[in-house]
Amino acid sequence: MNQEYERIQSLISYAEDCAVNDCSCLYRNGFHLMPPTGWLNDPNGLCKYKGEYHIFFQYSPLEVSGGMKVWGHYVTKDFVNYTYLGAPFVPDEDFDKDGVYSGSAYVDEKGMHIFYTGNVKLEGNYDYTYSGRRADTVLVESKDGRTFTQKSVVIDTDEYPEGYSCHIRDPKVWCENGTYYMVLGARTSDDNGRILVYSSNDMYKWSLSGEISSKKPFAYMWECPDYFVLDDKHVVSFSPQGLESGKYKFQNIYQSGYVVCDEAEPRVIDEDKFVEWDMGFDFYAPQTFLDDDGRRILIGWAGMPDARYTNGEAETENWQHCLTVPRQLRVDVASDGNKKVFQTPVKEVDSMRLGDGLRVKWDRLSCERDCLDVVCKFDEDKCTEPFSITVADGVTFTYTGQDIELTLDEECGKGRDIRKSYISYVKSLRILVDSSIIEYYINDGEQVFTTRYYKKDKGTVLSFDTKGADITVFPMKSMNIEFPYNGFGVEDYQCVS
Ligand code: FRU
Repeated sequence: MNQEYERIQSLISYAEDCAVNDCSCLYRNGFHLMPPTGWLNDPNGLCKYKGEYHIFFQYSPLEVSGGMKVWGHYVTKDFVNYTYLGAPFVPDEDFDKDGVYSGSAYVDEKGMHIFYTGNVKLEGNYDYTYSGRRADTVLVESKDGRTFTQKSVVIDTDEYPEGYSCHIRDPKVWCENGTYYMVLGARTSDDNGRILVYSSNDMYKWSLSGEISSKKPFAYMWECPDYFVLDDKHVVSFSPQGLESGKYKFQNIYQSGYVVCDEAEPRVIDEDKFVEWDMGFDFYAPQTFLDDDGRRILIGWAGMPDARYTNGEAETENWQHCLTVPRQLRVDVASDGNKKVFQTPVKEVDSMRLGDGLRVKWDRLSCERDCLDVVCKFDEDKCTEPFSITVADGVTFTYTGQDIELTLDEECGKGRDIRKSYISYVKSLRILVDSSIIEYYINDGEQVFTTRYYKKDKGTVLSFDTKGADITVFPMKSMNIEFPYNGFGVEDYQCVS
């Protein structure tokens, strides 16, 4: 541990201590992970190791609008009870001095192997896109998931291939038949998104084994790549920047989605098969991992970089952004007859329901709680009939019989207006409502919409225009988070709804 490490850690502890005591808690969520204080973006280093899930995240504890990037670290055995373990990786070396950027964890019997990008901006007159930035790939290891070895550079920026801009980052590592593979998100010098594929026999020495491109140009940068096999399908996931929006697609400034490929080592993907993970306003840079039960679990950042909409007064609580709930993935047949990756909240989320739920017989329901799980089933024969459900009098989910429309008014939306998708029928809808985020799962996860929203008071008002639907509302308890490092307890900190 060097002096810079100590200096940054003491600033972080101080910021976390102050923030926790100040929290007024209208917008802090009950079952979505947030930064203890300051800014959060991408989920990082997701893995299950020695019985615990590790959820690291991009974290700027000192600035609520983002700034110095470190990794924050939560662990949990059950996605209900969490422990915050502090910020293990901070920019304390020359090769990561401007940010410990995103990355992943690979776990095996030897330990946890964490790969991330060390962001460095050279001093001088640079544009930092085509010149002036370094992005070494760095490795840190751990035997106990708590203490970590020294950082070491495994791919130096100078080793990246010719023809690329300085934007190369976000290593995701996996192993196949004894060989380790790494994908890195990249932007070529002539502004095309790519994924670089490296391989290694030992995780220390890596060599370039190819690149993944698209048939036609498809966005200028691909961030946060991921690759995995799901139900015998080969899935390439990434977050492209620079796509033009259409009526039902690419409605946010940046996207994230996947392509299901037929071949085992995809090199040229068909961009026409790109499917967005989430159709809402706030979803980016997801990452997946496999747990001991063979579940492929995805967690996304419930945020959007460079968006015109904001998080409004939540910033006055001195924090910004959160993660989605963990979602289990599976390949299934969608309403249009094609195979798709479906996403549903992991079953542990169900265990936060309190009681047997309330069958809705009214048009309007006022709940004391901020955390609800709303389960709607539509009559099989009538699942093309229009309906709408409104949360907090300002967030309306409408099915027109053909389109889904998620609309937010100015007060709740802070600039979020409308997002649309096409779907030929809706037979089920699950709505996870939290203090300032809502996730909508349509047809058992065929489509998902995630949005942040900002209400005026505690409690949740629901309005239904849903003839003949069978709707149950479950109040939800909050997750527990322990903060052993700073000596404060859950009661002082958490907004228990
Ligand atoms: C995605 C991203 C990554 C980068 C990180 C920095 O949101 O831009 O590409 O590593 O955020 O925080």
